[in-house]
Amino acid sequence: TQSARPVVLIAEKLAPSTVSVFGDEVEVRHVDGTDRAALLSAVADADALLVRSATKVDAEVFAATNRLKVVARAGVGLDNVEVPAATARGVLVVNAPTSNIVSAAEHAVALLLSLARRIPAAHASLQGGEWKRSAYSGVEINGKTVGVVGLGKIGQLFAQRLAAFGTQLIAYDPYVSAARAAQLGIELVELDDLLARADVISIHLPKTPETKGLIGAKELAKTKKGVLIVNAARGGLIDEEALAEAVRDGQVGGAGVDVFATEPTTSSPLFELPNVVVTPHLGASTGEAQDRAGTDVAKSVLLALRGDFVPDA
Ligand code: MLT
Repeated sequence: TQSARPVVLIAEKLAPSTVSVFGDEVEVRHVDGTDRAALLSAVADADALLVRSATKVDAEVFAATNRLKVVARAGVGLDNVEVPAATARGVLVVNAPTSNIVSAAEHAVALLLSLARRIPAAHASLQGGEWKRSAYSGVEINGKTVGVVGLGKIGQLFAQRLAAFGTQLIAYDPYVSAARAAQLGIELVELDDLLARADVISIHLPKTPETKGLIGAKELAKTKKGVLIVNAARGGLIDEEALAEAVRDGQVGGAGVDVFATEPTTSSPLFELPNVVVTPHLGASTGEAQDRAGTDVAKSVLLALRGDFVPDA
């Protein structure tokens, strides 16, 4: 049933502040975006669709819409929204490109420190009734060479934070100039050079056809033996099987992984390995980031529904 007010369909759990932005101007409805049949039916009457990362907004979804004007991604990555399909139907796509970048960078740091000091394993051991100090010796980050793959907003925030640990920073990013990197105190290098020199590698790339599988068995073989690898960006940028194999044979000393090729998932070859710290895509999961992601996109959605210009965030 069509309401007099524009219908905003929220397909995932978003911060409560999101709905507050809308006030009475729209009718807010909810659906579970991972329930395909429910989504396809609910989207028929929607003027706006709000998602996080679990809902696949593809051509089939757009084909089921009748009055959709805007799709909003309450976060950064747009890999779950088929933007050309939206454009073909005249549907605007908005995201919240700065909402969770600090949280994502902080999570990458958290994974790295957990890995370096073996905190999850030591925690589990002590809670399990063991006091094993010698079993959980770690490494310092100070003095290490840190390779940042992808020097965009999140990569830069990660690098800034790592600089405070007394690291030497190198980065690979074909879209950033060496001069800009130098301003940030970072040496820009080719990927092979980064792989060969880094003691720690952290990935901060979007998932695109160009970046998918960027780090596979061949690249891992070029790393320094014992390198620590962090991926809080997207699953599939590093080949999961190849990473697990490299950890198993000791080429990679440990991996901190927040994102997986298929999500949600409860099985990955990485889950069985002792030198691996994993989290279920929590990079953006802070109160602050979710508040910003929700309210930022809600404001853009209101502008779009009013027919106003929607500025880039
Ligand atoms: C993003 O792209 O913003 C993140 O994946 C965060 C999220 O899970 O919403």
